[in-house]
Amino acid sequence: MGSFYGCARSTIGAARTWFYYKRIILISNSRVEAMKKMLILAIVTILSASFGCGSNSPVSDSERSIEQKVDSLLSVMTLQEKVGQLTLYTSDMDQTGAFLRPEYLEDVRSGNVGAIFNAYGAEYTRELQEMAVNETRLGIPLLFGYDVIHGHRTIFPVPLGQAASWDLDLIEASERVAAREASAEGLHWTFAPMVDISRDPRWGRIVEGAGEDTYLGSKISAARVRGFQGNDLGDVQTIAATMKHFAAYGAAKAGRDYHTVDMSDRELREIYLPPFKAGFDAGAATVMTSFNTLNGIPATANEYLFEDILRDEWGFDGFVVTDYTAIMELLFHGVARDEQHATELAMNAGIDMSMQDGFYQRNLADLVEEGKITEEQLDNAVANVLRVKYQLGLFEDPYRYSSTEREEAEIMKPENIETARDMARKSMVLLKNQNQVLPIKDDVETIAVIGPLADSQRDLIGSWSAAGDWSKSVSLLQGLKNKKPEINFIHAKGTGIDDGDTSGFDAAVNAARQADMVILALGEAYWMSGEAASRSEIDLPGAQQELAKEIHALGKPTVAVLMNGRPLTINWLDENIPAILETWFLGTTTGDAIADVLFGDYNPSGKLPVTFPKSVGQIPIHYDMKNTGRPFDANNKYTSKYLDISNEPLYVFGHGLSYTTFDYSPITLSSNKMATSDSLQVSVTVSNTGEYAGEEVVQLYLHDKVASIAPPARRLKGFQKINLQPGESKEVVFNVTNKDLSFYQKDMSYGSEPGEFMVFVGGSSKDTQSAEFVLE
Ligand code: BGC
Repeated sequence: MGSFYGCARSTIGAARTWFYYKRIILISNSRVEAMKKMLILAIVTILSASFGCGSNSPVSDSERSIEQKVDSLLSVMTLQEKVGQLTLYTSDMDQTGAFLRPEYLEDVRSGNVGAIFNAYGAEYTRELQEMAVNETRLGIPLLFGYDVIHGHRTIFPVPLGQAASWDLDLIEASERVAAREASAEGLHWTFAPMVDISRDPRWGRIVEGAGEDTYLGSKISAARVRGFQGNDLGDVQTIAATMKHFAAYGAAKAGRDYHTVDMSDRELREIYLPPFKAGFDAGAATVMTSFNTLNGIPATANEYLFEDILRDEWGFDGFVVTDYTAIMELLFHGVARDEQHATELAMNAGIDMSMQDGFYQRNLADLVEEGKITEEQLDNAVANVLRVKYQLGLFEDPYRYSSTEREEAEIMKPENIETARDMARKSMVLLKNQNQVLPIKDDVETIAVIGPLADSQRDLIGSWSAAGDWSKSVSLLQGLKNKKPEINFIHAKGTGIDDGDTSGFDAAVNAARQADMVILALGEAYWMSGEAASRSEIDLPGAQQELAKEIHALGKPTVAVLMNGRPLTINWLDENIPAILETWFLGTTTGDAIADVLFGDYNPSGKLPVTFPKSVGQIPIHYDMKNTGRPFDANNKYTSKYLDISNEPLYVFGHGLSYTTFDYSPITLSSNKMATSDSLQVSVTVSNTGEYAGEEVVQLYLHDKVASIAPPARRLKGFQKINLQPGESKEVVFNVTNKDLSFYQKDMSYGSEPGEFMVFVGGSSKDTQSAEFVLE
């Protein structure tokens, strides 16, 4: 027998369902229609109430009652209504202002669509929801999705920038702000986090992820899911997260977007899947397919990914949505003969919802009728979607997210802007600071602010800037003026970002001549990273480097402030400009946050989440490469190297300077032996030996000296961000467990092998102390 409480709760739930639908039905246009709906409703209500009183399953009452409601609803749905729940359309327009699908409102009214994306705003979403609830037979509420990638209205740093903070609490808090703003505007669902690992900075979408490392990427994935979803999807201030893009999208050949991916199962599971698993463990409600093929099979038709791994191995019970028109693209991949075949392949791979191509809408019912897709398959997919709608509380109140009061109160409120500014400050990475050019000294009277990004606003919010308004972003020049009204700032653009125009050089040089120092704002335009924004060369575009050379020739103290969505090959800057601050695209508060750092009100603490190569020819280059059978030896030609460039990157993973200096003690181990059932404590004492208070990201790496599978040279397995006053020391202790020493062995089982290990601790992947221990 079910518990008394379970029974009581499901009865109350059923009663709520009754009142909710009764209200809707009573405003139906025709009486016959209303009577029909009342009959269906009565059946649904009785079934929901009775299930809760008779079951003995181990699932919780609330889960059980959702499953019952889903089943009850499914039992009264027509084939067409089911297909509708699996269809997602955009509400937006193309560049000419025409709706991409002018008939989409018709589809909402007729129940042909279960979810809409790119529609937001409390009033607009309410209007659409009213159509779905009042005008369709069953009144199933719509789900509203949107790409809330790095903030909704208040725009935060691009995800790669946020990753550079290595600050999981702050990343979670940032997504919480995004969720509050988005949910107040009627949104239920974000197409984030993007958790694709990428080791190829040519790929423009590297800006959307957490960089090259699986451990850091996994921690950030979980933090972002927690931030969006909180502990309860039913909380009206949270939204459902989407882990995307499943899977291995970041390994596109030659860094060209949407390109083919081929990789071993070992690499897939070791490097690319863990951030998805971490997001799943954190409770992510949905998953999006990737555009690429994986070992010959497009992800959107890939049963191995969705059925074997996601559902069977991990037990995922949310829903899977395709990426934009990805079922249609099965035709171009050359694996589907026609629309019907593509639909069948996607459905058989366990894909629940189709985005935008309408392939499910047009073909699924026929496939079921022809017996090519079973009703059970269809029902499972629909149940996956309905379950999330129930979890979001949409059946209890379909309008709960569309609140004009909340919209007014939440959007860009001062606390949101403050969190964004904090995130922006912590996302910057000080790449170089020769002779302590930074922070800017108090006696400076005139500063030339030069470069195409010096007074840009549009670029600052980066790609995927959701409902962000670029005109509300603070340019670097404005931020500097806000901070130091007493300083004379002379601005000259010098050149455009990529136009190669040198006609502004003279004015820029003149401005620099009059100044005590120069801030050079260089980098990429916002559209040069993100989707469909691969580059074959990743240097400063246009005439920016020439501009930097002209300014450098004046011999003034110069700081380069970089704004970009990927690692850049900036060897000349590194050799010649004394200070370089990587700021990515920092969002709404850019100028204020950069001014905080340049003038020393915030001491930079970011660390690179991705390697900066010296040359495109080195790509892929990442810190956890394997040694090869012929490790580099400068005196031996027949070792692994290039004839024309070094193997070393420009800036290593984990690199980032501070205005202060940190000293690391040698490592102390709790023992030099460890049993697999045991753990080992690795300690170092970190001291602030400089003059500024500052934060340091203390990083722990491990290396298996001999293993049956060639091990990486080192791999990140822990980090802690600590705050130290000048002269202060802190002991940092890491707990190493058997899991940290495990890998996919020859038979693909996951485990460790006894033997010697090295442990490294330091302030980057290169600058470390080391010690050794034995796993027994
Ligand atoms: C992108 C997705 C995005 C979707 C919806 C696609 O082109 O690959 O990441 O969520 O569009 O906007």
